[in-house]
Amino acid sequence: MADYDVVIIGGGPGGYNAAIRAGQLGLKAACVEMRGTLGGTCLNVGCIPSKALLHASELYEMARKDFASLGIIAEAKLDLPAMMTQKGQSVDTLTKGIEFLFRKNKVDWIKGAGRLAGPGVVEVEGEGGVTTLKTKAVVLATGSEPSPLPGVEVDQGRIVDSTGALSLPEVPKRLVVIGAGVIGLELGSVWRRLGAEVTVVEFLDRITPSLDAETAKTLQRALTKQGMTFELGVKVTGAKVKKAGVTLSVEPAAGGEARTLEADYVLLAIGRRPVTRGLGLETVGVKTDARGFIETDHFATSAPGVYAIGDVTHGPMLAHKAEDEAVACIETLAGHAGHVNYGVIPNVIYTYPEVATVGATEEELKAQGIAYKSGKFPFTANSRAKVNHEAEGFVKVLADAATDRILGVHMIGPSVSEMIGEYCVAMEFGAASEDVARTCHPHPTRSEALRQAAMGVEGWTMQA
Ligand code: FAD
Ligand code: NAI
Repeated sequence: MADYDVVIIGGGPGGYNAAIRAGQLGLKAACVEMRGTLGGTCLNVGCIPSKALLHASELYEMARKDFASLGIIAEAKLDLPAMMTQKGQSVDTLTKGIEFLFRKNKVDWIKGAGRLAGPGVVEVEGEGGVTTLKTKAVVLATGSEPSPLPGVEVDQGRIVDSTGALSLPEVPKRLVVIGAGVIGLELGSVWRRLGAEVTVVEFLDRITPSLDAETAKTLQRALTKQGMTFELGVKVTGAKVKKAGVTLSVEPAAGGEARTLEADYVLLAIGRRPVTRGLGLETVGVKTDARGFIETDHFATSAPGVYAIGDVTHGPMLAHKAEDEAVACIETLAGHAGHVNYGVIPNVIYTYPEVATVGATEEELKAQGIAYKSGKFPFTANSRAKVNHEAEGFVKVLADAATDRILGVHMIGPSVSEMIGEYCVAMEFGAASEDVARTCHPHPTRSEALRQAAMGVEGWTMQA
């Protein structure tokens, strides 16, 4: 007799959503998590603390630089320990919320490090020794960790990864960020707003490689205007930690003369890799690919009764992707028809301005030979954005040239993270751009720009 219907290893957005959905569907579920709190990377050292600092630092910068233009005279002073404390309080509240949901849905939290120990058997090494759990199914949701860079050793002192960069003890005078991806730009923005000189070193000749090229260029221009410096096409070959800083050796990625960059702190953010060490994958024959990601087909791994979801498998490393996979995986296990639409997973960068995208980029459509029409609307022509003095950016809609079905949407501008959901719903319903163009939107709101961009696909944009 199995102790459980399902044992989930990992308590992040993949794992905790799987556990809660299992409880809701009447399955006897346990979630194994070795961290002292539930919520995984996202709640403890990812989405939540980074957004807490992005919000606070954005208000600090607005108070110092933008309030005067609205007729408000404010004197803003930074209290870094207090800013860090409120960040910690948000994390605390949210991780405790997951514990509450576990109790409510009768999910057992087994504290410790889990590993597969044979078909239907999970061993958990915790404080009190090893516990053996018997289960009908196992879901692996062990997530990801920062990728290392040989020669640049993270010590969480002078050279930090994203976790260290969320808790620096002081505002650096000079911060060098390695990697112009999402983490580099978000956390680089936090420390620049708080007063650091930030230089971002990127191996490629552009920032955010997977983003629509026009949107990425606009973001780089905006961040440069704010004072961030970019060194593109540059590779870091080594780092020397001194008492009060770091000397980085860099050279052109294409080859050329080496030089050095000085920094008080260095943030290494060149991507993340799956966590599978010590998981006992070999005991039941779970296959991984060359980069260590667990291979799956509709969440099923190569071992019977073992499933995998979230960052440890293929696809975008995003909390909402892990959450959708969790729900679909458990619903499938419980005999329902769970599904994930990988074509409609939004992606947001929480800089200022924000970037929010869903679906295909222009580059992807061109590469696939798909004929498309596009409509674009700048926030400079949107009344709400203008009166708020926040008119940077645009909305761009890409629609199939033959059917008008929406294929991709790319936005850059303040608060676009809160607006992309409208296009996600439209795309889930297979909408044409005309469906959005003919939907009444409230005036004056930034959301009118969504409609105007859709109207632009057929060339009848009206607001100016
Ligand atoms: P994780 O959240 O990594 O959780 C895995 C859990 O498994 C961990 O708690 C780990 O301790 C546990 N674990 C691992 N091995 C074992 C074991 N053997 N036994 C027991 N427990 C184990 N995504 C977004 O969508 N939006 C954002 O704004 C965003 N911001 C981010 C900011 C930062 C700085 C970072 C680093 C990431 C951010 N992400 C964001 C990405 C997001 O955090 C991940 O995509 C998400 O957490 C993946 O969920 P997961 O459940 O697959 O894995
Ligand atoms: P990333 O993949 O977004 O960006 C890494 C960048 O580093 C790329 O531009 C890459 O070309 C560059 N790079 C790689 N090797 C390099 C080298 N040796 N030298 C210089 N540059 C190099 O990875 P990042 O920023 O670490 O984030 C990891 C993941 O976390 C993201 O892919 C995302 O899925 C998730 N995340 C999501 C957030 C969000 O949704 N807002 C926020 C933060 C993280």
